[in-house]
Amino acid sequence: YGDASQKVDYVFKVVLIGDSAVGKSQILSRFARNEFSLDSKATIGVEFQTRTMVIQHKSVKAQIWDTAGQERYRAVTSAYYRGAVGAMLVYDITKRQTFDHIPRWLEELRAHADKNIVIILIGNKTDLEEQRAVPTEDAKEFAEKEGLFFLETSALEATNVEEAFVTVLTEIF
Ligand code: GTP
Ligand code: MG
Repeated sequence: YGDASQKVDYVFKVVLIGDSAVGKSQILSRFARNEFSLDSKATIGVEFQTRTMVIQHKSVKAQIWDTAGQERYRAVTSAYYRGAVGAMLVYDITKRQTFDHIPRWLEELRAHADKNIVIILIGNKTDLEEQRAVPTEDAKEFAEKEGLFFLETSALEATNVEEAFVTVLTEIF
C-alpha cells in the first residue's frame, strides 16, 4: 500500500461520483490505505489519494479524486472532471434512489469528461445483502445498455474494491 518507491510510468486521474453516503470516500480509503471507518463524515469540497500499482509490468500511479455527493458541498464540476481518464459511478445497493440517480450522474459525466473516459458502475455495501433494494440484474442490464463496466463491492469487507480499480486502470492502459 501507499506509493512504491520506484519510478512511475503513468499517472492516471480517476474520479468518484454518486449520491451522498453511498460509500465513495470509504471505497477510496479502502483502496489507498486499506482502512475503513463506519462513522465516515460527508466529504466537503475535493479530496484525493494516490496508490501506485504495477499493471502489465508498468508502474501506474492512480490519483483518485473524491468529492461530495451533496450538491452544496460539491467541487467545481469542470475542474473536477478535467484530465480524468477513469470514473467510478457509485450507488448503494440498499438505497434504490441512489441507483435511480445514476442516469443523472452519467449525464453530468458525459457532459464534462473526455469522451473516451473509462466508466465503471459500482453497487456498494454488498455486506448488507439482507437490505438489498437494487437487484444485481437491474444494474447489470443498465451497465450493458450504457457500455459501462459493472461490479458490486463492499468497502467494509474489502470485497471487489481492488478489482474495481484494477478493471478501470487496466482498461485505460
Ligand atoms: P459524501 O461524501 O457525502 O458524498 O458520501 P460518501 O459517498 O463519500 O459516503 P462515505 O464513504 O462517507 O460513507 C457513508 C456511510 O456508509 C458511512 O457510514 C460508511 O461507513 C458507510 N459505508 C461505506 N461503505 C460501506 C460498505 O461497504 N458497507 C457498509 N455497511 N457501510 C458502508
Ligand atoms: Mg465522501
